[in-house]
Amino acid sequence: MKPVYYFALCAVFLFACSGEKEQQPAESKTDTATAEDTSFYAPLPAGIYPQDNPWSQEKEDLGKLLFFDPRLSGDNSISCASCHHPDKGWGDGLPRAIGFGGKELGRHSPTVINSGYFEVQMWDGRAPSLEAQAKGPIQAAVEMNQKVDELIGELNAIPEYQEMFSKVFGESGITLDNIAAAIATFERSVVSKNSTYDQYMQGDKNAMSPAAVNGMQLFFGKAKCSICHNGPALTDSGFHNIGLKQHGPLTEDLGRFNISKDDFDKGAFKTPGLRSVSQTAPYMHDGSEATLKDVVNFYNRGGDVAENRTSLITPLELSEQEVLKLVEFLKALDGETLNATIPKLPAMVETEKAKAKTKAKTKTKTKAKTKTSKKKT
Ligand code: HEC
Ligand code: HEC
Repeated sequence: MKPVYYFALCAVFLFACSGEKEQQPAESKTDTATAEDTSFYAPLPAGIYPQDNPWSQEKEDLGKLLFFDPRLSGDNSISCASCHHPDKGWGDGLPRAIGFGGKELGRHSPTVINSGYFEVQMWDGRAPSLEAQAKGPIQAAVEMNQKVDELIGELNAIPEYQEMFSKVFGESGITLDNIAAAIATFERSVVSKNSTYDQYMQGDKNAMSPAAVNGMQLFFGKAKCSICHNGPALTDSGFHNIGLKQHGPLTEDLGRFNISKDDFDKGAFKTPGLRSVSQTAPYMHDGSEATLKDVVNFYNRGGDVAENRTSLITPLELSEQEVLKLVEFLKALDGETLNATIPKLPAMVETEKAKAKTKAKTKTKTKAKTKTSKKKT
């Protein structure tokens, strides 16, 4: 499937480039937009589960519990959902994330919507997969600050988890790899699809407002957004320095350069997907743009910082009207987001067997130990 997908991306890219040349001088064309041409359109494919971590309903359900469970953090206060909450577009609504101990981090929490479609994870692409990604924040001192053996001990004390892990993973039970595999499986179910844009492209010509249709023409034409935002999730999975002025506690963030050590990548960040983008403000790796209108205005003036900026970003000369139309199109990328209900977490009830064990243990333990086990209940 990969080569076909790649080819599709290239086709979209080529269209975007040639479309740009054709449409740039013909500004009036955008006012009579009919999207008869559907060659740039790519619906989200199904089946994004890797061979070494296949889908099962039980695994997805387990991953969902873990994603929402603050017991995954060192002081049981922060879950993945603290920074990736469904009510906040699966981000946190903040310019930059607030980590363990209330400290502001350098980067914005990206949404996990459609993250199953991204070829690499993180703003700088340092995680090759969702499985690899999930292990990071649990252990990171600045994020969830949890020790792996403590976490496994804690989860083992929750009978429902014990049962679910052995049902899904058999003998191996509760391990960091299995925790990550389950969370990744859940994340792949957080998909934004069936947007008004999809409905329009699939034949319902009333689905999008005329302004949004105009915006779409601009997106794939004069405003050349689709050079980078293309394919089913509207990302090229590439890295670009688009000329942002750095905001937040960091004076400089070299982004992709930290991973590739290639000067070309200084200040380059991963192109985000754009489905459901109206739900995930503020925007950019440093949360520097508050609204979609701010984002489009930023592109319209050709970025803010020239140093190392990609030559693909240039002033667009969009009228105020065109800016608003582009925003309308970005809103038409909102879709129904799957799997967004918040689950009830398994309780710390002890099984009769475990209770008996704890009792036997407490009998032989000192008073100090009894104190700590009391604290827990
Ligand atoms: C303290 C807030 C915080 C917590 C807790 C947190 N994240 Fe994140 N997450 C972030 C930030 C910030 C980034 C971007 C980091 C970067 O690019 O350097 C990120 C990036 C990601 C990405 C990459 C998305 C993309 O588009 O590249 C995924 C997936 C993700 N987190 C999932 C998780 C999971 C799963 C957990 C729980 C195990 C979790 N996060 C816990 C803040 C958080
Ligand atoms: C040269 C490639 C490129 C082009 C052209 C481009 N973008 Fe982007 N876009 C990016 C990258 C890279 C980022 C993230 C930059 C960062 O955070 O440092 C981004 C971020 C965004 C975001 C913020 C998303 C989020 O979740 O934070 C939006 C919205 C967006 N672009 C829309 C557009 C629109 C609309 C256009 C056309 C006017 C456009 N882009 C043109 C590469 C591009």
